[in-house]
Amino acid sequence: MKDWVIGVMGGSGLYDLDGLSDRETLRLESPWGAPSDDLVTGTLEGVRLVFLPRHGQGHRIPPSAINARANIDVLKRAGCTDLVSVSAVGSLREDLPPGTFVVVDQFIDRTVARPASFFGPGLVAHVSMADPVCPSLSSAAATAARAAGAVTVEGGVYVAIEGPQFSTRAESELYRAWGCSVIGMTAMPEARLAREAELPYASVCMVTDYDCWRADTAHVEVAGVLATMKANAETARRMLTELARGLPQARPASPIDTGLDQAIVTDPSTWD
Ligand code: ADE
Repeated sequence: MKDWVIGVMGGSGLYDLDGLSDRETLRLESPWGAPSDDLVTGTLEGVRLVFLPRHGQGHRIPPSAINARANIDVLKRAGCTDLVSVSAVGSLREDLPPGTFVVVDQFIDRTVARPASFFGPGLVAHVSMADPVCPSLSSAAATAARAAGAVTVEGGVYVAIEGPQFSTRAESELYRAWGCSVIGMTAMPEARLAREAELPYASVCMVTDYDCWRADTAHVEVAGVLATMKANAETARRMLTELARGLPQARPASPIDTGLDQAIVTDPSTWD
């Protein structure tokens, strides 16, 4: 077995994985409340995977109600060494049509109603979010997405909105003017919490639509989004197989493993 345990957060359209051997379901408790679902663990190409559908089976949990703290916490407790987030997004750029996989490397957080830290009164910590993703994991994910047949772009800015409504045209134009590449409702606060939990994180975004900024696109059109989402989910499954196959036996230290070593934290001698 390789030295990695890859946590996979599945987004819209990706509610399960196939091809796992030694498949088991795990129900883990978290002090942060209930995670979105049971975890599914198993082995793929010599790598242990731990899968969690962030909207729950049957897509029951809207973005604002996802308990990202509990989700990250149970993935950490399950022994994950790294996290790969897979999510459906809208495109804010002409050159990122539906079907494109964008492995983003930056985020702008416009969510407003979600607990976004494991820390709080009594234990204050400020981790760096300057470089929010693990570059080596992101590059491995991009290589795997290409091998799975997806047109794949490395790098991009993900703007996270609260939802559940899609954006107005003015908002969509604003995000484009800010230089954002894709828009979604779930990568934040997930990426922040992964950093606090010292879990190297990569975010694979699957474009389902052009949001509403594009002149010939009336709005986010439902039938098209669903069809693209289904095709993207199939490609994402192949990407995970390719990712597991491509990972080396030994896991090198991630360039961002040192999250809390580098953080400004309350003096540990005063912790309860
Ligand atoms: N997820 C998929 N498409 C989206 C869009 N246009 N805006 C926000 N989240 C999305």
